[in-house]
Amino acid sequence: MARSAGSNRTGYQPIPGRLYLYSGKGRKQLIIETVVSTIDRENMPNFAPMGITCNAQLVVIRPFVSSKTYQNLKDRGEAVINITDNVLIIAKTAIGDKNVRHRPDSFTACHLLEDACRFISCVAEKIEEQGERAVFSCRILGRSRLRDFCGFNRAKHAVIEASIMATRLHLYPRELVGRKLDEYRMLVQKTGSSQEEEALQLLDNYIQRKLQQR
Ligand SMILES: Cc1cc2nc3c(=O)[nH]c(=O)nc-3n(C[C@H](O)[C@H](O)[C@H](O)COP(=O)(O)O)c2cc1C
Repeated sequence: MARSAGSNRTGYQPIPGRLYLYSGKGRKQLIIETVVSTIDRENMPNFAPMGITCNAQLVVIRPFVSSKTYQNLKDRGEAVINITDNVLIIAKTAIGDKNVRHRPDSFTACHLLEDACRFISCVAEKIEEQGERAVFSCRILGRSRLRDFCGFNRAKHAVIEASIMATRLHLYPRELVGRKLDEYRMLVQKTGSSQEEEALQLLDNYIQRKLQQR
């Protein structure tokens, strides 16, 4: 069935106001680093790494209002949370390369990453605007699973940290960026595969370009 601009399967209507289940009633919640997939008004898919929290019914996403993910969530409301150990996808999508392999989701109009372990499909029910960030509280529509998570690996964690640094470079003094990159390179050399090497090289090139523009 054709989908018109701004509509979705769940009849999404964002309700401004306070959230009823954010932050687990005062208990600190684990933030999981994921890739959030959304669609725009023209059904164009978008993928961006985002830290989320969730429980059995709800996912909470906190995009910066400057992000495409924020705009898409506001316009369309639907999202898929992709839980992946493929850090090359995290690195690429963090710095604006959205050319990643994907396929349609069966719960929403969004897309699933082809190389992810688990997926949570959800629809935004509440939005709380908090200055630079918005908090979307999303009801879970369905979950699916493709494969096992590979397990903890220091190189993968280093690439995730490097990806975060790449998206927040303005907060880091130049010398600190250099020191952090050295540390991440060492971890990737020691414990990574070619996937982590490629991801860190990509981020390194991006960061050097950005530093030259400072
Ligand atoms: C691991 C990781 C977690 C991130 N978490 C968030 C987040 O919770 N909210 C946010 O706005 N940006 C977050 N970012 C930064 C965005 O992914 C980045 O700004 C991205 O370019 C936004 O893409 P978009 O404009 O297509 O939405 C995170 C980046 C990484 C690498």
